[in-house]
Amino acid sequence: MYKNFLELAKSRYSVREYSSKEVEQDKIDYIIECARLAPSAVNKQPWIFIVVKSEKGKEDLRSCYSREWFNQAPLYIIVLANRDAAWVRASDKKNHCDIDASIAIEHICLAAADLGLGTCWVCNFDVERCKKLFDIGTSSHPVALIPIGYPNEKVIPVKTRKEVKELVRVV
Ligand SMILES: Cc1cc2nc3c(=O)[nH]c(=O)nc-3n(C[C@H](O)[C@H](O)[C@H](O)COP(=O)(O)O)c2cc1C
Repeated sequence: MYKNFLELAKSRYSVREYSSKEVEQDKIDYIIECARLAPSAVNKQPWIFIVVKSEKGKEDLRSCYSREWFNQAPLYIIVLANRDAAWVRASDKKNHCDIDASIAIEHICLAAADLGLGTCWVCNFDVERCKKLFDIGTSSHPVALIPIGYPNEKVIPVKTRKEVKELVRVV
């Protein structure tokens, strides 16, 4: 557990090497609870979390994103967004389902980091294949695949980020 949010935010990074150690059920429950508590536009909560634990489910998911490191994770969460369940802004008809789902996804990643677990956002996957294999209907779509497991990396990557002065505009 981290002392403050900055320490937690610094500790999260995209883990691309996992140990085979299983993730304990109480840790999965903690992560899902943190995702459930995420904010969403008009509190619509237009998301579903598919926890992929079975060997068949893992094999199917791995075929949607073929990377050696992705295969190593002992657990995955697929985050779905439901367009029909989300808030749509009246002024420009913008559907907020992907924004809402993304907040929940980052709650998952930060909750996992809080428990000493690694994650990585994965969006560069075969969406149609994933929808077919996991029987995802027409109103929902998978936003990201999140591998979760104990990090096995020898060298933790250095964070490269833009400088504050490049990002902040004070008016
Ligand atoms: C929306 C989004 C999509 C991403 N998709 C992928 C992906 O498909 N594959 C991958 O290896 N990393 C993916 N990443 C991870 C980014 O490459 C990573 O977050 C970024 O380089 C910053 O590094 P850090 O997470 O270690 O701080 C994604 C991250 C985000 C936020």
